[in-house]
Amino acid sequence: MIRRVVDDLYQIGESIEGTDGWHEPVRVYVLLNDGCPLLFDAGSHVHRGQIMANLRELLGDTPPGYVFLTHTELPHTGNLKAILDAWPSAKIVVSSAILPYCELPWWVTEDQVMYGHAGTHETYGGRPISFLDGILKDQPGTHWMFDEKTGTLFTADAFGYFYPTSAETLFDDELDAGVPTDWLRRYHETAFRFLPLVSAKKVNADIDKVFAKRNVKVIGPTHGNAIRHDVNGCVTRLNQAILEICEETKA
Ligand SMILES: [Fe+2]
Ligand SMILES: [Fe+2]
Repeated sequence: MIRRVVDDLYQIGESIEGTDGWHEPVRVYVLLNDGCPLLFDAGSHVHRGQIMANLRELLGDTPPGYVFLTHTELPHTGNLKAILDAWPSAKIVVSSAILPYCELPWWVTEDQVMYGHAGTHETYGGRPISFLDGILKDQPGTHWMFDEKTGTLFTADAFGYFYPTSAETLFDDELDAGVPTDWLRRYHETAFRFLPLVSAKKVNADIDKVFAKRNVKVIGPTHGNAIRHDVNGCVTRLNQAILEICEETKA
């Protein structure tokens, strides 16, 4: 399903049906970027048909310039080969020597793979993108990325949430009171099993630091719909969810 988030930012991807009516989204974000589209993650292989159809509809005759991978797990990289089969000129931007874990077609050349290092920024198709270390991650080397133009922070697994069926395609401003703490909590306690072992205060402080340093207008989580309205409110609710996960487990 294609949904326009803001400006030239679009969200595609489907959801996985979980238990008791809860669903886990698996999204791909696209910046059309005036003739040099940028893709953030490649989507799950189980949604290959829909994702490729959506990409073809969204991009038309314009091939993607770059595919940015947050990390190597299949929900994030599962369609890389399909994308490169369709658009062989696309370059891949990764955080580290991630290559052995990606299902790259044999004909991908070394110069098609680029490295974006945390703490740096580069320009891709005329668009500045900066890289930062993922604060919450389930794989070392996961990076978050920031698009200055739309103010979008792509957060990989963090800021994901499980939702009930009725909320499947809704952005935060289309929900009655934004993304509830409970939805964020359900996802984070499953996705980041180490959370009970760490200091909630420290994790929350690190997350707050990321948002204090840049003007984030949109959050693009892979496992949630984009948060485009109340970014601060969502950060506060995630802080609360992390606090609850850590403290209740320790209690
Ligand atoms: Fe992950
Ligand atoms: Fe993931």
